[in-house]
Amino acid sequence: MAFPRDRPRRLRRTPALRRLARETRLAPADLLHPAFVREDISAPQGIPALPGHVHETVDSLCDTVEQVLALGCGGALLFGLPARKDAEGSGAWAEDGVVQTAIRSIRRRFGDDCVVIADCCLCEYTDHGHCGLLHEAGGVDNDATIERYARTAVSQAAAGAHIIAPSGMMDGQVAAVREALDRAGFLDTAILAYSAKYASVMYGPFRDAARSTPRDGDRRGYQMDPANQREALREARLDLDEGADMVLVKPALTYLDVVARFRDLTDLPLAAYCVSGEYAMLRHAAAAGAFDERAAVLEALGSIHRAGADLVITYHAREAARWLDEECRG
Ligand code: PBG
Ligand code: ZN
Repeated sequence: MAFPRDRPRRLRRTPALRRLARETRLAPADLLHPAFVREDISAPQGIPALPGHVHETVDSLCDTVEQVLALGCGGALLFGLPARKDAEGSGAWAEDGVVQTAIRSIRRRFGDDCVVIADCCLCEYTDHGHCGLLHEAGGVDNDATIERYARTAVSQAAAGAHIIAPSGMMDGQVAAVREALDRAGFLDTAILAYSAKYASVMYGPFRDAARSTPRDGDRRGYQMDPANQREALREARLDLDEGADMVLVKPALTYLDVVARFRDLTDLPLAAYCVSGEYAMLRHAAAAGAFDERAAVLEALGSIHRAGADLVITYHAREAARWLDEECRG
């Protein structure tokens, strides 16, 4: 049962053999495009921290969605940047808020062709930058916050979001959102639960883009300690019990062990979010000549898929979709 009879290299000899022996394949449809739609601009504006990405107007976002669909990507994840922020983050659930307006506009133009996922959190909307309401004594008030997430989710569902993604790592957030959606009659609006979102350094470019760096303190009081894996499983089990339709791990590349454990835990669709800092690492290293960007991105995203993620949210979605398409033709 060994060498010289067994020679694994037999199936690595030619491109066609390697293709035949390939165990996993990432497809454009597995990729989700994250987008920022901003209220106080009249033309799209480049985001220096995320080269290749822009703050979209509602109109430019629709054009981007058209591209995303043409490339075969699975859908878009929307973040809203309001003109004004306040202590409560009230822009998050405003009926004519920027994300609600964008969702309506996308649904009007594309119907159900583009899966619209709405990020459900307050950090883009609060003037202090935290993901929820603050206690007077400091720290985020969990139970007051999930009530706001519930309102936000209902306003996003009313606008036409297919999937609500509560991302603030509050306890009970999935149950609160499910209950509110059901009560408002949105029985078919799905929930993508950010079950394991770690307190990572990899969110830097996003926070630049969303101007959502907490004014005081940090998010370690609610996001998870990077050292913990068992706790992630516990978070996922709670979210499954609370009614999650899909679960997510964030960031992706440094948490592939968690992705693999989640794969064993649930048969539900599993997503991983390759975050802004991971995008920046790949882009900057490629620009500095460390490697070819295309090869690096396909290897990185493919690894997330191999670890067990069905879906990958990535700032490389459009490029990767193009590259994957070329690859399966070539
Ligand atoms: C918080 C949130 C974060 C991101 C999106 N929403 C993390 C954070 O700022 O703590 C980061 C996404 C990215 O880096 O691409 N709800
Ligand atoms: Zn947040």
